This record gives sequence, C-alpha cells and structure tokens, in this order.
Amino acid sequence: MILILFGPPGAGKGTQADLLKEKFNLLHLSTGDLLREEVSNETALGIKAKEFMDAGELVTDELIIAMIKNKIDNTTSVNGFLFDGFPRTISQAEALNDMLKNSSKEVDKVISLEVDDSILIKRLLERGRSDDNESTIKNRLDVYKSQTLPIKDFYSKDNKLIQIKGNQTVEDVNSDIVSNLS
Ligand code: AP5
Repeated sequence: MILILFGPPGAGKGTQADLLKEKFNLLHLSTGDLLREEVSNETALGIKAKEFMDAGELVTDELIIAMIKNKIDNTTSVNGFLFDGFPRTISQAEALNDMLKNSSKEVDKVISLEVDDSILIKRLLERGRSDDNESTIKNRLDVYKSQTLPIKDFYSKDNKLIQIKGNQTVEDVNSDIVSNLS
C-alpha cells in the first residue's frame, strides 16, 4: 500500500501518520523529519537544507528526490510507504511515480487534510518548532499554495484523492481516514 498524507503546514500530517503507520504496517517517510535529522547531524545535505527550511522555502527537488530514492531502495519487509510532506511539487510527484513504476507499484491514495489558515497558524504558533515563527509560517503557507497545491489536481485526475476535514479531533480525523480507505 502506498499512501500520501497531503496538506498545508500544521494540517496534522505527522500526527495522523503516527496512527496510520501502526495500523497498516507502513514505513513513515516524512521529508521534514528526514531533513531535520540531516540538519541536526550537520551533514552536507543538512547544511544546504537548513537555509531553505529556516526561510520556509522548499529544498531543491534534486536533493529531496535523491533522499527519498535512497530510502525506498534500502527498505524491505514493510507493507508499503506512508509519505508525509512529499511530494511537494509536480516534479517530485512525477519522480515518485517513476520510482514506483520501477518496482511495478503505484500511489494508492492521497489523503488531503483540509484546514483553514487561521487554525493552521494558531496550531503552529502553539507548537513552536524553530520554523514556527510568524514570518516563516506565512511564507510556508504561500509556498504551499503556489508550489504544492497544484499536486491536488495531479492526483484527483487519477481518482486517488480523498479529502478529509482536518479541523476535527485527532481521533475523528483518523477514523474518517480509515473509513475512507476501507
Ligand atoms: P515539514 O516538516 O514537512 O513541515 P510542514 O509540511 O510545514 O508540516 P508540519 O510538520 O508543520 O505540519 P503537519 O501537517 O505534519 O502537522 P502536525 O501533525 O505536526 O517541512 C518543513 C520544511 O522542510 C519545509 O518548509 C521545507 O523547507 C522542507 N521540506 C520538507 N519536505 C520537503 C519537500 N518534499 N520538498 C522540499 N522541501 C521540503 O501538527 C501540527 C500541530 O497541530 C501539532 O502541534 C499537533 O499536535 C497539532 N494538531 C494536529 N492535528 C490536530 C487536530 N486534529 N486538532 C488539534 N491540533 C492538532
């Protein structure tokens, strides 16, 4: 099973991924978490990525695609993948399709968590991660709308998109997702 958790910053992708990965025995691949690990280990990738992340800009497609390909190629014994925060551009979505096609797989469903901006901003300010300050949040939301939102059309054309109201309790969001997948 190949699932994508899609949505703006603060929509609850990571929160729902933690619940879904256990239920379906999927490998959770969060590009944000992978990048933060590279930053904290001060790797060459982390050093390059930090500047983009601090500004709320996207890290280059080339770096992200290489990072994901490496994970997919080196993973065995899971039922599939749960992508969170990836793909974030049409070229990342096309690259993912190509990677999966090599092993005769395809994306099954894209779960889009829909939440209003005012709630997203409140959640992120309360969380307070290093990129959760007002100006970076504003840019992350702008970048999401201009560069990431077009992916919704890309997947809805193939009937893969499931739209979920993300402004409910964590448990209710999760049960909506699970009932849409069964
Ligand atoms: P990333 O880490 O992916 O950040 P994001 O997409 O901005 O998402 P968040 O982690 O902020 O939110 P989330 O939707 O996971 O929500 P969460 O569950 O945490 O990316 C960070 C940066 O890395 C990017 O800006 C970019 O620079 C770079 N990057 C990453 N991927 C990239 C890619 N593919 N290409 C290029 N660059 C990339 O929840 C948020 C808060 O809300 C939490 O406090 C949570 O407890 C709370 N919450 C969750 N659900 C609910 C609920 N139902 N009710 C109330 N509160 C809730």
